[in-house]
Amino acid sequence: KQTKKAKTKNITSMLTEDRVFQPPKDFAKTAHIKSMAQYKKMYAESIKSPDKFWGKLAKEELQWIKPWTKTLQWKAPNAKWFVGGQINVSANCLDRFLDTPTANKAALIWEGELAEDGKPGEERVYTYKQLHREVCKFANVLKNIGIKKGDRVVIYLPMIPEAAVAMLGCARIGAVHSVVFGGFSAQSVADRAKDSQAKLLITSDGGYRRGKVVALKKGADEALEIKDTDGSRVAKSIEKMIVVNRTGQDVPMKKGRDVWYHEEMAKASSKCPPAKIGSEDPLFILYTSGSTGKPKGVLHSTAGYLLGAKMTSKYIFDLHETDVFWCTADIGWVTGHSYVVYGPLANGATSVMFEGAPNYPEPDRFWRIVEKYGVTVLYTAPTAIRTFMKWGVEWVKKHDLSSLRLLGSVGEPINPEAWMWYYQNIGGKRCPIVDTWWQTETGAIMISPLPAVTPMKPGSATLPFFGILPEVVDEAGKAVPKNSGGKLVVRKPWPSMLRGIWGDPKRFQDTYWAEVPGSYFTGDGCRTDKQGYFWIMGRIDDVLNVAGHRIGTAEVESALVSHPSVAEAAVVGRNDPVKGQALVAFITVKSSVTASPELRQILRNHVGKEIGPVAKPDDIRFAEALPKTRSGKIMRRLLKQVASGEDISGDITTLEDRNVL
Ligand code: WT7
Repeated sequence: KQTKKAKTKNITSMLTEDRVFQPPKDFAKTAHIKSMAQYKKMYAESIKSPDKFWGKLAKEELQWIKPWTKTLQWKAPNAKWFVGGQINVSANCLDRFLDTPTANKAALIWEGELAEDGKPGEERVYTYKQLHREVCKFANVLKNIGIKKGDRVVIYLPMIPEAAVAMLGCARIGAVHSVVFGGFSAQSVADRAKDSQAKLLITSDGGYRRGKVVALKKGADEALEIKDTDGSRVAKSIEKMIVVNRTGQDVPMKKGRDVWYHEEMAKASSKCPPAKIGSEDPLFILYTSGSTGKPKGVLHSTAGYLLGAKMTSKYIFDLHETDVFWCTADIGWVTGHSYVVYGPLANGATSVMFEGAPNYPEPDRFWRIVEKYGVTVLYTAPTAIRTFMKWGVEWVKKHDLSSLRLLGSVGEPINPEAWMWYYQNIGGKRCPIVDTWWQTETGAIMISPLPAVTPMKPGSATLPFFGILPEVVDEAGKAVPKNSGGKLVVRKPWPSMLRGIWGDPKRFQDTYWAEVPGSYFTGDGCRTDKQGYFWIMGRIDDVLNVAGHRIGTAEVESALVSHPSVAEAAVVGRNDPVKGQALVAFITVKSSVTASPELRQILRNHVGKEIGPVAKPDDIRFAEALPKTRSGKIMRRLLKQVASGEDISGDITTLEDRNVL
């Protein structure tokens, strides 16, 4: 017992800010970026002359249909990169490899949740040539049903190869995809379809989750029937539905509206030249939560996004021909867009896609997959790592993980204990860890170590990527001294930055560019240390990070008050050892209603139905009243303290009624 105690103490003392882990020596031999001096030189160039820096990479790394005339046109908040150029994202991910040896290597390795015989291990491998063929066919399917360049397409699918095919098929003809995470509700699908005025919905009959067949088309059908306030259907812009047959369950097909993916594919030609897409034409919209109102449609455009996804994948994950890269994110999130699909494929790498859950059939599923395919680079989230810690290292030890050479982390600050566990038990102390900070809005990684170069400090995302100029600032927007906290902003435009919020330029301006005029406001708190390393402190707006999922408190509140028994609701976060943050809802019920444990369950399910299971509050507390200021503003600060079981501290003089505490 005593040794154990001593050991823990030892680890904790190792985890101070000054504990530095050097990148492994042999890593630099083959790495794309080999030395700190090289990083510093390139970084300085990228900040001094971004036009020159990105222009050179865009020319060397991307294949253009028509060259651009102006590298950057910048008038805050609007950036235009590679103005006048034409390019096709799917051609850069597929066609460009067709007359190289890469053509016949695996582009996508897919592991399904279960095999035909019920055992884990169903797999499908697509070479670049095969994936190209599927994407061309699907692009023709889109054309055949009337989808044109610029039309929006909602993709609501499980983690199956058809999801990647659908995304790349849209990109091929210039249709704008909007992927909706399969765990989101029918209501969410309807809202997103309406906001983007999408014409087509791509879904599947269902999927598998922990060995069980689950429905998906049912939700899609429901989404298309939900009524708006004016009595019309919310998602009335949707004209067609393409349905992938994943599970074989019986689903109704609506005549004239629904078609089967496999039937349309069988009819489609496999010849489809890539469309000429303008650099700044939209590639996708991805909805993400903000501090107010409904999720916003983050808009990404074509050339800059592709370059950002490609270069970050290449340099940060150090991708080579021989790598098997596994990013465990769902394609419903931006991480899945940039690092399951576009980034790895643009580099000619092999990308692993997994349909299932990490503990099905047993808690070693991830390690089974790493061993089975010889995964070399693994990219996952701190919440997953903490879950594996909880399940115990025995599950890891059953498998040979010696193929791994590099590990990544994303989604939230990684606590040093989880970092150490990941480093020792998964990486066998030989793999560098890249802790990558970025956002849906940034399109690609912004702050991260370079694996052969940057000394690592557990808990810090370390230094900015090329072209990124982050700064920690105070209320007045002025840089704060080292070691003091402040708001994280980005001072310069970068190629993969968002181009707007779909249909709402004012919200774009107000959310990101008004807080610190002329700079991009991230919504995160941060500090830098004496070496200039960035330490992200988490969101400082009313956005929570629950198990790596971004959830707006306002969204959950409006879902709660939409229930007939709720009068008022306030949602705050409290720390959670596994999920990072947990959702706590404070609720006052209408006078005719009695608060009860049953009501608690009803309300949780109601939120699940309105938004999706990820947004269900962990805790619901009924209160007589909510603490408010005299002007009627809910004092969230106090609720946060109550939610975490802390004593109330700080100024409460503005509180209208002290009794509510
Ligand atoms: C928010 C963005 C794009 C990654 C997936 C999440 C937090 C993300 C880190 C990190 C500390 C991180 C931030 C950010 N975050 N990565 N390495 N260290 N915090 O994308 O849903 O748009 O959320 O996730 O708070 O603002 P997202």
